[in-house]
Amino acid sequence: KDGPPTLWGIELKWISLITLALQNAFLTIIMHYSRITTAPGKTYSAATAVLLNELLKGTISVFIALKRIDTNMTNSPPPPVYSEKMNSKNSDRRSSSKAFTMFHPSRITTLTKAVFSPDCYKLSVPAILYVIQNNLQYVAASNLDVATFQVTYQMKILTTAFFSVLMLRKRLTRLKWASLIMLAIGVGIVQMQSSATPPPTITHPPPHVGHHHGEHQLRAEIPLIPETTMTHRRVMHPFKGFIAVTLACMTSGLAGVYFEFILKSSSGSAPPPDLWVRNTQLSLFSLVPALVPIIVAPNGPEGMGYIMKVMSAFSNFNGWAIGTVITQTLGGLITALVIRYSDNIMKGFATSLSIVISFLASVALFSYPITLAFVSGSSIVLLATYIYNSPGSPQQQSSRTTVAV
Ligand code: C5P
Repeated sequence: KDGPPTLWGIELKWISLITLALQNAFLTIIMHYSRITTAPGKTYSAATAVLLNELLKGTISVFIALKRIDTNMTNSPPPPVYSEKMNSKNSDRRSSSKAFTMFHPSRITTLTKAVFSPDCYKLSVPAILYVIQNNLQYVAASNLDVATFQVTYQMKILTTAFFSVLMLRKRLTRLKWASLIMLAIGVGIVQMQSSATPPPTITHPPPHVGHHHGEHQLRAEIPLIPETTMTHRRVMHPFKGFIAVTLACMTSGLAGVYFEFILKSSSGSAPPPDLWVRNTQLSLFSLVPALVPIIVAPNGPEGMGYIMKVMSAFSNFNGWAIGTVITQTLGGLITALVIRYSDNIMKGFATSLSIVISFLASVALFSYPITLAFVSGSSIVLLATYIYNSPGSPQQQSSRTTVAV
C-alpha cells in the first residue's frame, strides 16, 4: 500500500538489479585472476574463501536484522527500552542512544527468537546447495577463461526458469518463454564475439612491445595484474571447468528458487520473518557444510592438529583473495535483495547484462573493437529484458505464490 521500496527515489528493485549486473561482471574477472596467477600449491583455499564469505555475510545480515527489528517484528512485543527511545521525537537522545539500542539485550533476544524459529530448518536446503555451488564456482573460474565461464554460467537462466515453473508454479506466458530463449541466443552471440576477440589475458612470458605492435594490440595487452605475480600461471582443465559450471547452474537454479519459495510463501497467519533474518539463518546453516572441506582437506603435514589445520587453511590469502571474498559477499547480499524485490528469473537478466558490461569495459580499457556481432547480441539481450518486463506481460499473475510484504 505504501508503494514499492525506494532508495534516493529509485525503486530498490532496479537499483539491486543494476548493482548485481556490475558486481557479477567484476566478480567473474577478479575470481578468475585471483586463482590463476599463483604457482600451484600457492593458491589460496577456495573452501576457506567460501567459509569467510558466509561468515562475513552472516555478520552483516545480523547487523541489518538487528537494526530493522522495530519495523519488521511487529508480531513480537517491542523491547521496552528500545521502543521508549525510538518512538520519542527527541532526536538528540535518539542519535546518542543508537549504538546502545542496537545491541540492547532485549533486541538481541528478539532476533535470536526470530532466527531460531521453528521453521528455521527449512533454510538448511538452500544453505547446503549454495555452499556446494560457491565451491563449484571456484573450480569453474580456475579452469575456464573469463568469457567462457561467464557465458556457460548463463545456462542458469534456463535451470532457474525450469525450477521456478516446477516449484513456485510460475506460469510463464509464451512471450516470457520467448524472451528467455531470446536472452540465451543474445548471450551466445555476445559470447561468439568475445571468443573471436580474446580477452586481454595475462601473458607468460610477459608481452614484449616491439615496433611491429600497433596501438590497439599494445593497449590490449596491458596486464591486469602486476608482472611480479604473473610469473606462475596455473594450468587450466576446461573439461573439469565445464562440468563444474554445469553443476553450478543446477544448484544455482535450485537454491535460488528454493530460497525464493521460503521467502515468499506464507505459512499460517504470522507475518513471515524479515529477509535479513532469513539471510542470517542461511549463513548459519552454511557454516557446517562450509567447514567440512576445510576439516577433511588433506592439507599440511601428517598428524597435524585441527587448530593447525584450520590455520593452514588461511595461508596464501593475499589481497586478490580478500577482494574476491568481499565481492562475493556483496553479491550474496544483492542477490538476496533481487530475489526479495524481483525474482530469480529477473536475476538472470541482470547477470546476462553483466556480460555486456564487462565487454564494454574491455572496449573502454583495452580498445576492443565493437563489432556487429556484439551490437546485435547485446541488443537482443536488452530487447529480451524489455519484453520480459513489458507492462503488457502479466508478471504478477504468473506466480501463484503468496508474496510476503
Ligand atoms: O550464481 P548465483 O547467482 O546463483 O549465486 C548466488 C550467490 O548469492 C551465491 O553465492 C549465494 O551464496 C549468494 N546468496 C546469498 N544470500 C541469499 C541468496 C544467495 O548470499 N539469500
